[in-house]
Amino acid sequence: MAVLVTGGAGYIGSHTVVALHESGRRVVVVDDFSNSSPAAVDALQRLVGGSLVFAPVDVTDPDAVDRLFVDHDIDAVIHFAAFKAVAESTEQPLRYYRNNLDATVTVTEAMVAHGVRRMVFSSSATVYGEPERVPVDETFPTGATNPYGWTKFVGEQILRDASAAHGLDVVLLRYFNPVGAHPSGEIGEDPAGIPNNLVPYVMQVAVGRLDHLRVFGGDYDTHDGTAIRDYIHVVDLAEGHVAALDALDAGLTGCEVVNLGTGVGSTVLEVVEAAGRAVGHAIPYEIVDRRPGDVERIWADVRRAESVLGWRATRGLDEMLADHWRWQRTHPQGYATPAPVA
Ligand code: UD1
Repeated sequence: MAVLVTGGAGYIGSHTVVALHESGRRVVVVDDFSNSSPAAVDALQRLVGGSLVFAPVDVTDPDAVDRLFVDHDIDAVIHFAAFKAVAESTEQPLRYYRNNLDATVTVTEAMVAHGVRRMVFSSSATVYGEPERVPVDETFPTGATNPYGWTKFVGEQILRDASAAHGLDVVLLRYFNPVGAHPSGEIGEDPAGIPNNLVPYVMQVAVGRLDHLRVFGGDYDTHDGTAIRDYIHVVDLAEGHVAALDALDAGLTGCEVVNLGTGVGSTVLEVVEAAGRAVGHAIPYEIVDRRPGDVERIWADVRRAESVLGWRATRGLDEMLADHWRWQRTHPQGYATPAPVA
């Protein structure tokens, strides 16, 4: 039996593929490379000794998805494949709704048609918006402030309804802020264009692709005036997916929602300082206006992850930045970096 990983060449998907392999599972990866690179699949094959089955499939294509379930002995699905850029989703909402919701419905329909019951879904803490208090637990009110966020909110609802109607067993994982890379430095985050997210931007400053960081807002009501997030090592996050599958294998039923975070908040300036320690020199920055739509502070209540999945994050901010830097330093242009001459 195998686990189907949609979007398995992406940042979180690729790290989860490695963690699944380490847990002894067979993995079938699909990706259409709309926001990822075939070089990620090559790197994955090196990391897992060539054991991956890979198919270049767009999971909004029902016939292609059906064939995956016919051709492979799939008993669980981890569904990552989605567009994820907040600002782009505001400019191209229909493209985001079409892609992200179509993918979720198509994959779930195929599961129902082929009697596959177990699903882990890639959701986001973005569904909490600006929380009334911190830490946020899974019972907090949810909604969204942009089309990307709505596709996660609606994706969760689609799976809740499918679980109730068709007996699927589903874990909805709400990610906080994933950063870092596999310690091998072979796989990592490779954003297209100028990064929107903090750590990829900082790392491109560190390798000289960008001049300096702009810190969005220095007047928040926090100890250094910058906003607080719950940064989680992508390998911890990947292991959270394995823990979710383990829980499903052990008999977890219905539809569970679980935060994946560390329970610890860090300010933007604390991340910038940790990046400076990892890189070996200070990261130049200036403080500018707040970014519209940003929340002041959010971090996870991690008790449900511990009780339902038996999982907790173990890696701290310095390890996240050191690992992210190893990847970026050896791949200054991401997966497009030419291999070193032997
Ligand atoms: C963002 C998205 C969120 C998405 C997540 C995916 C927004 C409003 N939210 O979360 O929906 O799920 O990415 O990873 O876009 N920062 C700077 N300078 C920069 C970049 C970021 O100061 O150049 C600050 C931000 O203001 C924020 C923190 O760094 O305080 C983290 O930002 P980011 O990495 O973009 O994550 P989120 O905004 O938390």
